[in-house]
Parts: sequence; structure tokens; C-alpha cells
Amino acid sequence: MPTTPRKILVTSALPYANNAIHMGHLVEYIQTDIWVRFQKLRGHDCLYLCASDAHGTPVMLKAQELGMTPEALVGRFHAEHLRDFQRFHIEFDNFHTTHSAENRQLVEGIHARLQERGLLSWRSIRQAYDEQAGMFLPDRFIRGTCPVCGTADQYGDSCESCGATYAPTELIDARSVVTGSTPVQRDSEHLFFHLDRFGASLREWTRAGHLDPSVSRKLEEWFAAGLRDWDISRDAPYFGFPIPGATDKYFYVWLDAPVGYMASFLNLAGKAKGSGAPVPDFDEYWAEGATTELYHFIGKDIAYFHTLFWPAVLEGAGYRKPSGVFVHGFLTVNGQKMSKSRGTFIPAATYLEHLDPEYLRYYYAYKLGPGTDDIDLNLEDFVARVNSDLVGKFANIASRCAGFISRHGEGRLADRLGNAALFDDFAAAAPALAGHYEAREFGRALREIMALADRANQYIAERQPWALAKDPARSREVQEICSDGLNLFRLLMLYLKPVLPAMAARAEAFLRIEPLRWEQHDQPLLDHAIGQYEPLVTRIDPAAVARLVDAPRPVAPAPAPAPAAARPKAPTGKAAQEPAATIDIDTFLKVDLRVVTVLAAELVEGADSLLRVSVDMGGERRTVLASIRKAYQPEALVGRQLILVANLKPRKMRFGTSEGMLLAAGDDEAFLLAPDEGARPGMRVR
Ligand code: MSP
Ligand code: ZN
Repeated sequence: MPTTPRKILVTSALPYANNAIHMGHLVEYIQTDIWVRFQKLRGHDCLYLCASDAHGTPVMLKAQELGMTPEALVGRFHAEHLRDFQRFHIEFDNFHTTHSAENRQLVEGIHARLQERGLLSWRSIRQAYDEQAGMFLPDRFIRGTCPVCGTADQYGDSCESCGATYAPTELIDARSVVTGSTPVQRDSEHLFFHLDRFGASLREWTRAGHLDPSVSRKLEEWFAAGLRDWDISRDAPYFGFPIPGATDKYFYVWLDAPVGYMASFLNLAGKAKGSGAPVPDFDEYWAEGATTELYHFIGKDIAYFHTLFWPAVLEGAGYRKPSGVFVHGFLTVNGQKMSKSRGTFIPAATYLEHLDPEYLRYYYAYKLGPGTDDIDLNLEDFVARVNSDLVGKFANIASRCAGFISRHGEGRLADRLGNAALFDDFAAAAPALAGHYEAREFGRALREIMALADRANQYIAERQPWALAKDPARSREVQEICSDGLNLFRLLMLYLKPVLPAMAARAEAFLRIEPLRWEQHDQPLLDHAIGQYEPLVTRIDPAAVARLVDAPRPVAPAPAPAPAAARPKAPTGKAAQEPAATIDIDTFLKVDLRVVTVLAAELVEGADSLLRVSVDMGGERRTVLASIRKAYQPEALVGRQLILVANLKPRKMRFGTSEGMLLAAGDDEAFLLAPDEGARPGMRVR
């Protein structure tokens, strides 16, 4: 065990706040979460930070299309993303947003330092402009016929049919995606960052072991092609931070997005102050020369930004560089790119309607290694792998042994191991498994864990406790064999815990033990009363997977549905709720339900579970105290539409008067109910 814990800061890429999280994104967040959970399980001091990537043209245009402010759109996706992540057991220490005071302050500071050091300069560039919309067009917002192969309706920067890349001016019959009009060419002043000045230090950093060899090779290609100045500005209208000292110019989203990692850190530190939690020190993690570890998990599509621009900006502004950038490949489903028409473009929320998140965590982990190869979710193989490994091999050990302990050991594990040598073999696997997790060789770790599970099952099969159980004189032996089995199971659960945290919690409840820690891998559990066994995992029904692929997709950003009901209940699970007594329609109609828009939301001093929420009910303003603090960040609610019980008698509470009630599902958790697109504040709900 580590005598001094390492201090590790880990990030996943910041998801754009204009689209739902899908199965592809989850490769990354699950990979990162497993690695972070592993570090924490080992007793290291590890922080996992993320945030919404709020800025840029797509967010601005989508908000316009939906008739809302970009801030409101971001708030909505922030809440939706966080909920999806939580349901997949992705546990951030903080999930902030790049559209925040912390980020603005950091970006302005970086801008000032880069300017001071002569690393920025303005120069004029010519760009496509939509006269009707009054805006410059990013390449992705121009479409036309490919100049190379003649395929119609291609993006302004590359052709999906022949793979050619070109300038938008080369497109035949170019059109603006925003208005359909023909773009014209216009000049504008842009701010450039002198990436070329960092050639030598980037080369050195790249070769110093911070990257997987496959990524370093890619970088060598980029170096060979030459490092060009990077345009870090955009013209108004734009959703972003204005550039100090310039008029109608904004920082390009990709300048402020990675700074969001630092902003999320500052925000966490701010929240920790005064809360009693340890306050992480900004300089200890970010100052030049910092000795703490910093790792970014990203997809291969954004490697250029993280391995060239970002380290150069950090160095230019006087900060430390990352200790590692871990790049993963892209998800394919059944061997092909995810596709809406094949039904394989699956939002995270849709998956959860049909299947347990831990099936996916296991399968992705099984497929993941440290390299940049794409990973394939083959749905048939997914069902077979999960059913064979988790149900057939792993959980089977516990389910075979548990019953005999209650019947032959009075619910207690034996006071010694029957086969100590086997236990020692399992314990001795810990260092190698830790090495695999550390090196992101998750597939390798799982294959070795399942080989151990095979050995545990073999041991039980050889000793045949079910046969011995027929002879009352051999009860003690039965208890010992099954105690061995459960001890082996417990070690395997410990080894799987980074991948299967919810199952581990259920197993810990069944074994009646404190949360497992890595350092316990060589300590057997003896002479110890265990609980009643309940199935830890059920088989995947292939029909549920079939439904997943034909499930109708939400069209607009909608709140995520409740998680799958198929999951076996945790031992503490509540009994199903009784239906309420019948009422007549007149009684129901007395309830005045209204659509409202959240104007503001804030924490309530002294009330841990409450948020004070101000809403607009179509001209009338109401203030409600809602116990939803655990599930929602106040800033994430702003702009959302909800349903209010409007004629509830105002209730005086210690913290003020609550003028109504917001509808939500769940008892311990809160899932706010929201109307579909098109509803307006004040509308009656019928
Ligand atoms: N907002 C940027 C990241 C800014 S980080 C300072 C972004 N957002 S994203 O929402 O498009 O993607 C978030 C992460 O998910 C990226 O690392 C991306 O590579 C990853 N993936 C998105 N689609 C994916 C697949 N289909 N497969 C695997 N990873 C995918 O990029
Ligand atoms: Zn083409």
C-alpha cells in the first residue's frame, strides 16, 4: 500500500452542451471513471473533474432555434448530462461549466500573459459570411457539392464520401446552413497564437513518455507537417467570452474549453471552502513545476487540441503541462459507425430505459486498452460476454455458496480457510491486476479476474458441497468449502469494484462488510455473520437489446427517463408503493397545474436538501422551496420549464414561504417533470 498517497487530477473531455450524451461518449466517461475509482480504491488522493462545454456557434444557433437563451440551453444540458452520468455511476468530484466566472477570469489571465510575452498577434483573414444572418460561417455551417468527387450536400471542410479535405471556397454551389443563402467572402481581423514558437518544447514533451506510442507517432506527423499559428478569435455574433480590448471579438470555444478543467478545479476549491471538506490548492496542481499528477482522458478526434495547442498555451501562460494525455478510439456498433438509420445511435438515456448501466461498464472495460484503436460494441457479443462472465462465472460463486452458509453455518463464515493456498493465489494476483488498471489495460485485468473466477468455480465443483450436505456429520466441511468460496468471491468483487461499483455495494451489504479497500486483498473474512443472499445481477435478455435498437429516439432535448427496472433490487430496496385511493375528476380538476419557467434558483442557507426556485408562470412570479438540492445544481435549473402545483396553500417554512410545489418523480431521488417543447409559461396542464 502507498505510504504517501499520490495527488492525481483527472479529467474527461467536456461534453458540448447542445446534444445528449450517447453510447460513444460513454466509452470515455466510463474509462475515466474506472481509472479514477481504481486510484481512490488504492487510497490515493484523486480528483475527477469535468464541466459542460458551453460556448461556440452550434450552441448559439441551437438556442436560437429553440427560442431560448444560450445560457438556458446550457443549463438544461448541464442537468441532463449530469443525470445521465450519475446513472452510469460516473462520479465526478465536480462538474462545472465553461460559461462561468472562474473560467472567464482564468481565460482573461491567460490572454494577458500570452499578450505580454508577445505570443499573440492580430491579422486579417478572409472568410465566408452569411449576409442574411449577419454572421461569419464556420466551415461546418457551409454545405455544397464536393469539388473532388461531385457528391452533393457535403460540409465546407471535407467530403464524407471521398474523404477529400478542401477550403469552403472550393465547394461547388456553396450554401449557408443557417439561411440557405450563398455565402460571400469578407475580411476580418483575427487573433493568432504563435504555436510555432513551441516547436522545440512540444517535441521534447511529446517524447518524454507522456503519451501512448500510437499518439506520439501521430504527433510526429503533425510536427513534420509544420506547426501553424492558431486562430483563437471569432467575430460577433458568438456565444463566448469577449476579448478584452477588442470590439465584437470573442475567444474561440477551443481556447476556453480546456481552461474549463482549471475553472472546474477553482469552482471545487471555492465550494470546499467553509464546507469542512479539504480545499485543494490551485498552485499545487497547476503552477509551473507542480509535482502533482495531471491526466486528461480524451477521444482521438480532439488529440490535436490536447497534445499541441493545450500544452503550448499552458507553457505560454506559465502553467504546468499534463503528466499524460490518454487517448481512446471511437465507438462502433456491430462493426459500423453509429447510425441513426440502423438504430445504433443510442442516447445514454435510451440505454437506461432497457438495460442496467453496469452491463455496459463491464463490456466497455473488457474491450478497453491503453491504445487508440476503435472499440466495437457488438450487441450479440455484449449479451454473451456479460451473461457468461458476470452471471455464469462471477455471481455464480456467491449464489452457489450463500445458501449453504445459512443452512450449515448458521449464517456465519467458518473461522478458518479450508484451502488457504487457493486464497493466497487469489491474493497474490493483486499487484499484477493493479498494474493492469494503472496502465489502462482493463480488458487484460478482467480476463485475468475471470480466469480466477473459473478456478473458484472449479474448486467448488470438485468439493461438491451439495453432495456433502446430505450427510449431517459433514456440515462443518460444507461450511468451510462455502466460506472459501465466498472469500474468493469477495476478493474478485474487490478487484472488479472500479468497474462495478453498484454491484460491489450490493455485495458489501450481503457480506455485511464496510466498503472494500484494495489493501484488504490479503485478509480473509472469517467467523463473520453474513446477510441473506439476493441475486447480484440478472442475465441480459436479448429481447431487451433488440428493443434498445428499435427504441424511438427523443427528437428534442428531453429529460432522461428513469433507469431500467430490470435491475435486481439492492438489499435495502423499498417495497413497491401502494396505489393512492381513487378520486373523481372534479377533485382532480381542483388542482391547478401550470407550466412555469425557472428564472432563478439558489441554495437555502441552513437547509441541506432545499433549493429556493423562482419561476415565471406567464407574467406572475412565484417562489418555491423544493427539496431537490441533492439531484440538481441551482444554476442548471435556470431556463428550464417545469410543472407547478399553483393553487397549493402557501406554506410558511423556517426558510421563507413556499408558494406552490414543483412536480417530480421518485422519493429519495428527485426527477423533475417537464413539459414537451412548445409549452409556454402559464399554460394549464390537463
Ligand atoms: N467539447 C469538446 C471537448 C472539449 S475538452 C476541453 C468535445 N465534446 S464532445 O461532446 O463532442 O465529445 C466529448 C468526448 O467524447 C470527446 O473526448 C470525444 O472524443 C468523445 N466521443 C464523442 N463521440 C465518441 C464516439 N463515438 N466514440 C468514442 N468517443 C467519443 O469534443
Ligand atoms: Zn468527395
